[in-house]
Amino acid sequence: MRITGRTRLAGIMGSPVSHSRSPALHNFWLDEYGVDGVYVPLAVAPDRLETALRALPALGFRGCNLTIPHKQAALAIVDSVEPMARRIGAINTVVVTADGKLTASNTDVFGFRENLRDCAPDWNAHAGPAVVLGAGGAARAIVAALIQEGVSEIRLVNRTSARAQAIAEDLADAKSAISVAAWAKRAALLEGAGIVVNTTSLGMTGEPDLGLDLAALPKTAVVADIVYVPLDTTLLTTARTRGNRVVDGLGMLLHQGRPGFEAWFGTPPRVTRELRASVLTTLSAAR
Ligand code: ATR
Repeated sequence: MRITGRTRLAGIMGSPVSHSRSPALHNFWLDEYGVDGVYVPLAVAPDRLETALRALPALGFRGCNLTIPHKQAALAIVDSVEPMARRIGAINTVVVTADGKLTASNTDVFGFRENLRDCAPDWNAHAGPAVVLGAGGAARAIVAALIQEGVSEIRLVNRTSARAQAIAEDLADAKSAISVAAWAKRAALLEGAGIVVNTTSLGMTGEPDLGLDLAALPKTAVVADIVYVPLDTTLLTTARTRGNRVVDGLGMLLHQGRPGFEAWFGTPPRVTRELRASVLTTLSAAR
């Protein structure tokens, strides 16, 4: 990388930010496409988020990503928000417009959809009900993606039911029925499902296992996990062994970066085997 007088700037604001794989992702693409740009980690404390975001146009930044804990707070600061991101209640991508305004979106929705398309091209919204485990920010984006895809029945299940209920209310949609079930019922919910997605942190290195009994799940269903450390969670290994198609969590992370990269640096980037391998190396180095 060579910094010139014209180098385009973007980055990610978080607190902490050092865990983020986004710099590895975007700088891989910048190198691959020979773009005169740089993507930097920006450690921004919550009480300085507004000052930092407002400084982007003044500093000549093209925009930024947002990670923990800024995704919700930033929504109230930017000038305009894509409607789906507003319904979800969180943004992760900010673009500085030509007139210095901040426009924002939630590209996790796009990331989940594109990764699903990549890894399970045969899946479609008519494959059967979707079961979503968890009710954090990732679950919100994934429910939104399933609604956009046209899934007519979404079954939500979370340890804390009230959080799942809140998603069902916030994302209520005329074409998709969203029901909430008790955590203890999760295995039975898999009956007849076309896709099941784990959005909880269970199964991640250092966390307890999800321990989901897949007996009731049709063999034709897709099993997706957003956990990517480890890449092969017990959920995915079990699903693969019984013949289900699996979708791992790394792809969603990579695909969600595409819209921001294109907006800031002017080139639509691709998710390739080489990119996956390069980002995976940074994950194993961090362990
Ligand atoms: P994110 O925004 O990244 O999705 P989050 O808001 O911390 O993260 O959500 C983590 C999810 O994992 C939640 O659904 C959480 O359940 P609660 O809402 O009940 O907290 C779920 N989770 C974490 N640890 C869990 C555990 N031991 N058992 C069941 N669910 C768990």
